[in-house]
Amino acid sequence: MTNTHREVRLAARPTGPVTDDLFEIAEVPVPEPGPGQVLVRNTFMGVAAVMRTLMDEVTSVPMPSFVVGEALHGPAVGEVVAAPGSDLKPGDLVAHRLGWREYSLVDAAQVQRLDPDLLPDPAGYLSQGPTALMGVDRGAEVRPGDTVFVTGAAGGVGSLAGQIAKLRGAARVIGSTGSRQKADRLIKEFGYDAVVIRGAGPIEEQLRAAAPEGIDALFDNVGGEQLAAALAVANRGARLAIVGALATQLSDGSRTTTEIDTLSLLARSITMRGVALYDHLDLVPEWNRMFGQGLRDGTLTFPHSRLHGIEEAPRALRELTQGRHLGAVLVEL
Ligand SMILES: NC(=O)c1ccc[n+]([C@@H]2O[C@H](COP(=O)([O-])OP(=O)(O)OC[C@H]3O[C@@H](n4cnc5c(N)ncnc54)[C@H](OP(=O)(O)O)[C@@H]3O)[C@@H](O)[C@H]2O)c1
Repeated sequence: MTNTHREVRLAARPTGPVTDDLFEIAEVPVPEPGPGQVLVRNTFMGVAAVMRTLMDEVTSVPMPSFVVGEALHGPAVGEVVAAPGSDLKPGDLVAHRLGWREYSLVDAAQVQRLDPDLLPDPAGYLSQGPTALMGVDRGAEVRPGDTVFVTGAAGGVGSLAGQIAKLRGAARVIGSTGSRQKADRLIKEFGYDAVVIRGAGPIEEQLRAAAPEGIDALFDNVGGEQLAAALAVANRGARLAIVGALATQLSDGSRTTTEIDTLSLLARSITMRGVALYDHLDLVPEWNRMFGQGLRDGTLTFPHSRLHGIEEAPRALRELTQGRHLGAVLVEL
């Protein structure tokens, strides 16, 4: 085993778009685990839109912000190197939340043992599936026959949410994304029936054309104009799940708001509900079982990009915020 490894630190807070110079890569000693600690050699880490938010000093996200000069954190999977005093053995596959480094020293209580046979590829444990399942089942309560609108459909969450909505019997699933090329892929490869495109004209107009009979359920990752369009075309009894806020998170510091006509909302008995995964962690094992089965029988796919090497982690997050990828963005370490 090597004596040193690399970690990615936050060099400065962004004042605009994410750039590579906001990160620095440091070479540091591989830590020595004490009793109750686990040393993990990380094999994959994930980046996600929330990390852009956590680069700010103060956020309304219920997670600790990154600290300037310290390594970032986020989901990772890897193999146990040593775990004195615990029942974990060297070579066990585990997940934890101290990614952005090649080796992590984690408290045993913060490490989840993973079944290496449940998913065909351990990278799948970094999918955003639990959030997608939560939004479809518990947020939007998607039912057979529904017309569903998934905003941010080409992201790690949205690219699975559309597939899950279809599995739950949705008759028509409409997505939103930022480019024609991604829209075509969502339709051809990931089961979307129609896609509206940010920047290609008013979203409400595009959504009315894609859903002439209105929408019954919304899985909202974006907010702003896209949420307003969904509210405008929502049918009586529609269920709207607020899962993310990409329009605010990725719009260089400005907060995007949505005006709501409450009279029109109550007149149509519309339910709007914010859902956060930390209230629904019981869905994680359920998702992993469903995902393993779906990947094997071909009813689910895992849209993702893979970059290679810890030095590519800053690029991975920058490119995610720039909309360069479809699905989850992972770094193989
Ligand atoms: N509620 C929860 O517990 C929970 C858990 C996990 C994640 N989340 C939230 O779920 C949302 C989706 O997460 P994710 O990791 O899958 O993110 P993501 O969709 O992969 O985020 C990156 C994508 O955002 C889109 N984007 C960029 N700028 C945008 C803008 N100004 N307006 C709208 N979209 C823009 C781009 O996609 P296009 O090019 O396709 O537009 C880009 O590829 C995020 O808001 C995240 O914080 C919530």
